[in-house]
Amino acid sequence: MKIVFLGAPGSGKGTQAQRLVADFSMVQISTGDLLREAVAAGTELGRRAKQAMDAGELVSDEIVLGMIRDRLQKPDVDGGFILDGFPRNLSQAHSLESMLAELGKRLDAAVLLDVDFDILMKRLTGRRTCSKTGKLLNVYFSPQAELDACGAAGGELIQRADDNEETIGNRLDVYRQQTEPLIAYFEQAGLLRTVAGAGDMDAVYARIKGVLGL
Ligand code: AP5
Ligand code: MG
Repeated sequence: MKIVFLGAPGSGKGTQAQRLVADFSMVQISTGDLLREAVAAGTELGRRAKQAMDAGELVSDEIVLGMIRDRLQKPDVDGGFILDGFPRNLSQAHSLESMLAELGKRLDAAVLLDVDFDILMKRLTGRRTCSKTGKLLNVYFSPQAELDACGAAGGELIQRADDNEETIGNRLDVYRQQTEPLIAYFEQAGLLRTVAGAGDMDAVYARIKGVLGL
């Protein structure tokens, strides 16, 4: 299955993508993760992306499209993929359409994780990633046993550089202005599946599987 996860910062795209990857033979393609890896590795691409990411702005389409083009040509995408955080504006959506047509692939669905903006700030300021397992956790919402398991596995709980209130505010503005128009775009394409993204993480996952027929 080939899907796009659409939703505001903190809506749960990464969390729910990790679950689909664990249960089905799909790969997660997160442009945010790929960009953070490039920043951490200190590559030229990472240096060019860092300033925009720290400010909560979008990185240039040229950089992101190059990354996606490379990634979609790897053989592991044949079992299905989840595009997490891409496309992010209409121009990226049009480029994706032509890229997939060239590769002879078609999207099955665009899943919108719909969450009220007032709960996103708490999710984002509380987010931590386990350095050992990569699991997404939350100091407010994850069970204590899951938080403790990271340390027990020899990992540390890491906070993302852009998860501070000021940058989060800008990321939410950018989402409203540039990414929200994609909801209508995917609706017109007949691909939009909207899922209520608030509440228990397991319940959200069950709703996603429901709209995808999994
Ligand atoms: P990116 O990494 O994509 O960040 P984002 O879109 O801001 O989304 P997040 O990763 O913050 O949220 P998420 O929906 O994955 O939520 P999560 O599951 O972690 O992008 C970062 C930056 O890279 C951008 O600002 C931009 O600069 C650049 N970039 C990336 N893609 C780009 C593109 N295509 N073009 C241009 N630039 C690009 O959940 C959040 C927290 O909530 C976690 O702690 C989780 O445990 C918790 N949580 C999840 N679900 C629930 C629930 N149901 N109840 C309670 N807590 C929950
Ligand atoms: Mg994410």
